[in-house]
Amino acid sequence: MEHIYLDKIKELESPPKIVNIFSDGEIKMMQDLYNDLPESVFNKKQNVRKKSWMKNFNKELDKIYFDKIKDVLGDFKMDTLKSETGEDFYGLFHESFSPLTLHVDSGFEKKDIIYKQVVTPLSSYGDTVVFKNKWYGKSTSFSIDEEELSYKPKYGQNDRSNKHLGQEEFDKKMHQKYLTHIDINNLKGLKLEMVYNWKIGETLIMDRTHIHCASSRINNKKLGLTTFTKK
Ligand SMILES: [Fe+2]
Repeated sequence: MEHIYLDKIKELESPPKIVNIFSDGEIKMMQDLYNDLPESVFNKKQNVRKKSWMKNFNKELDKIYFDKIKDVLGDFKMDTLKSETGEDFYGLFHESFSPLTLHVDSGFEKKDIIYKQVVTPLSSYGDTVVFKNKWYGKSTSFSIDEEELSYKPKYGQNDRSNKHLGQEEFDKKMHQKYLTHIDINNLKGLKLEMVYNWKIGETLIMDRTHIHCASSRINNKKLGLTTFTKK
């Protein structure tokens, strides 16, 4: 799959940025909301627990969150799977116990004009590693492992691909410092855009076409909130 409205998607692209839009109290409300929400996915293989932000658990926070990201993004639509009643989820809380590997969250519908993803750390140790390299297909996990590459994704699951690879060896020092959970040969041809060091109170905003992963720095677990948007 490749996105149809590539020109529009590219027109909307901009460098990643960090904003300070949530107060300590609002971050606390998000952490509490995470605890109150029912569990939706516990993926043992990826070692990640996910919960969807359903509306109406904390109506005040629903409004604050939407309004604050709208201030930064302008008009947007949510692009997270919908609830059983067809309502948009506001985002996905992800609690990971081991670092996420290389992937892109570029969506599943080729007619969508994918826009920004909004990552709000709710724990304070670790990083998101963003590469300059972009991907205009559907959401994909990148691998050089033959068995992994032969996996047939079901609806809503990431493709598997090694088409991100280039020729140039990845920087050994940066690999050692941040990316030891990823085979260095799976990073060939990738160039770093930024290593975002998670700080509570900050929010990272980046294009959904950026290939990214977590850094290998994890202290027991990481909790974050990601909202995927489209135009
Ligand atoms: Fe991601």
